[in-house]
Amino acid sequence: MKPVKVAICGLGTVGGGVFNVLLRNASEIARRAGRPIVVEQVATRTANPNCDTSSVYVSPEVMDVIENPEIDVVVELIGGYDAAYELVMKAIASGKHVVTANKALIAVYGNEIFHAAREAGVIVAFEASVAGGIPIIKSIREGLTANKINWVAGIINGTGNFILTSMNDHGSDFAEVLAEAQELGYAEADPTFDVEGIDAAHKLAILSAIAFGVPLSFDKVYTEGITRIDVEDIRQADALGYAIKHLGITRRTDKGLELRVHPTLIPKERLLANVNGVMNAVMVSGDAVGPTLYYGAGAGAEPTASAVIADLVDVAREMGAEPDSRVPYLAFAEQADDMPVL
Ligand code: HSE
Repeated sequence: MKPVKVAICGLGTVGGGVFNVLLRNASEIARRAGRPIVVEQVATRTANPNCDTSSVYVSPEVMDVIENPEIDVVVELIGGYDAAYELVMKAIASGKHVVTANKALIAVYGNEIFHAAREAGVIVAFEASVAGGIPIIKSIREGLTANKINWVAGIINGTGNFILTSMNDHGSDFAEVLAEAQELGYAEADPTFDVEGIDAAHKLAILSAIAFGVPLSFDKVYTEGITRIDVEDIRQADALGYAIKHLGITRRTDKGLELRVHPTLIPKERLLANVNGVMNAVMVSGDAVGPTLYYGAGAGAEPTASAVIADLVDVAREMGAEPDSRVPYLAFAEQADDMPVL
């Protein structure tokens, strides 16, 4: 079958991971997608020492990919708001499908982006935007599709969990562990997003839209980070039988939908209390299935690439179908919003 031609925009930690895994696992991916997925172009100004791009067209300007008629799918991995927004909206207007890992973009501009994508009949897929390599969006959207979701709660920022774990296990200094998380490629370009809870709030807004069919409501998330926690707090909690974890929680209440991210005391014997390092875990409770748990690496090059490429495989499978017969990637626009977001 005709290959799907992809442009990778941004060759940083995640872009480099996507490039390498696409090349390394090309035959498995082609078998699962039903056709090869080929990197036709990479747009980056900075070479990634982990990637051999000698056989690929590399352009310095991301907007070049919009002009390239060969490109079927734009993979937006530049991050941030403005340039990413422009790239994605132009890609949609040009009839190109989009895969993105950018939770800030989806959380803040998602309502507009999905409206534009629906009008243009293109797919915008964003599995990698929440919980790195854990296929949590697909699990809620497809695996739990029979359920009325009651609540979602989880550790959804790998950097924050890495810091809290190191403070707990080694009494490490907050700033030193944050620097380590940055070196490992876990942290956001602006690491205050990780430690002030903003990154988790972006992800929670996306999860609640998927789980409850409400519009993306990032501005409604109560947001508190981990900067006020010190080693002594962790020691005291430990002595009382608790771990301190930074959680994102969204749940139905009698008054409407609650969205909040903040540090939480969790009894040490509970599963979430034992999720350590960069790992994420998300619990989802549905009326039919009861509580379920999803666990895996929440950040890093190849775990995140795993989710980006899963989206590329979905796009490869669905791009030939009529837009109305595709799996809806974000269904809120079709659903009655009978649940106010508090
Ligand atoms: N900075 C994010 C985190 C990256 O640490 O979870 C993955 O979204």
